[in-house]
Amino acid sequence: TEPLRIALAGLGTVGAGVVALLDANAELITRRAGRTIQVVAVSARDRFKDRGVDLSRFAWEDDTRLLAEREDVDVVVELVGGSDGPALALARAAFGRGKGLVTANKAMLAHHGLELAAAAEQAGAALKFEAAVAGGVPVIKGLREGAAANELRQVYGILNGTCNFILSKMETESRGFDDVLHEAQAAGFAEADPSFDIDGVDAGHKLAILASLAFGTAPTFAAVEMTGIRHLLAADIAEAAALGYRVRLLGLAESGVSGLFQRVHPYLVPLSHPLAHVTGPTNAVVAEGDFVGRLLFQGAGAGAGPTASAVVADLIDIARGVTGPPLAMPSDMLARADRADAGDR
Ligand code: NDP
Ligand code: HSE
Repeated sequence: TEPLRIALAGLGTVGAGVVALLDANAELITRRAGRTIQVVAVSARDRFKDRGVDLSRFAWEDDTRLLAEREDVDVVVELVGGSDGPALALARAAFGRGKGLVTANKAMLAHHGLELAAAAEQAGAALKFEAAVAGGVPVIKGLREGAAANELRQVYGILNGTCNFILSKMETESRGFDDVLHEAQAAGFAEADPSFDIDGVDAGHKLAILASLAFGTAPTFAAVEMTGIRHLLAADIAEAAALGYRVRLLGLAESGVSGLFQRVHPYLVPLSHPLAHVTGPTNAVVAEGDFVGRLLFQGAGAGAGPTASAVVADLIDIARGVTGPPLAMPSDMLARADRADAGDR
């Protein structure tokens, strides 16, 4: 069987993690994918940076977008980041050339998800983004496939590993905010601009994607209300603990009579709730379905290994020809729009 030939754009925490994982588990990945997943070409800003993995085997493109133009590439993996700029140009170029796209870029999907889903559909190409929400936790698959038969009422959870890491370290080790944030950055959890993490924007991006999947709507990041944890004090956390609560930054989306409600905010979570016990860079997503009841998806939400695990899972799906719809089912979105027109929201 022919290999699935991929190009990697971005060789930072996640990109280098993908190369390391494809190398370490090559044999089992080939077995499960039914064919070899072969990196053909790579791109980043600095060609000569040591990334702890051997890149000498791959072709190098200075211009990231050119990865999509290569005849020897079937699928482009975008791990650069940023809602626009080179990431979006590359995604558009990939679909323009009929190639599949795997991305961990929640910012791009939250802002341009509908456009990219339509472009993927038109190109007959895959758009896969398991790593974009909750890192290594298979919540996209869980909602799209596992809960496919359910009407979902609500989806909420801990969507940012950096914030959860900061909150739990401040609580258990009485450390200062900036000190723990630096540790999260050094561990590769934080965004290139960490204000996206601590101001709730990253969780807002992920929430917009989850809401789209859960409720069959287009992602509407502009409608997400966001408050982050920047102004939380150690004293706030200690006071909450004294009253039997833990402070957690949660994203919550609900579809109700007045439309879609999406909010990211620090919440007081009672110790009786499972989310109070989620610590470190762990993410946890709860979804309430009408037949399945409460689902809880939990695991590592950030970092090289877990995020690479989700990226490579998407590649294995594509290699096996299992791609699913891009984002929500377009037919769902249309049905939703019809019901809204009829006043049923
Ligand atoms: P990094 O900052 O570690 O890596 C980004 C990579 O993109 C670097 O290799 C960088 O090149 C390259 N790059 C940046 N700008 C350009 C440009 N203009 N042209 C070409 N290459 C460029 O980011 P991460 O690996 O942490 O994140 C990548 C994506 O994955 C983001 O969308 C992020 O939100 C998402 N993500 C990250 C997770 C994590 O835990 N880190 C978890 C889940 C998703 P160079 O190295 O040469 O500077
Ligand atoms: N900066 C993000 C986080 C990376 O801390 O959750 C994973 O999306």
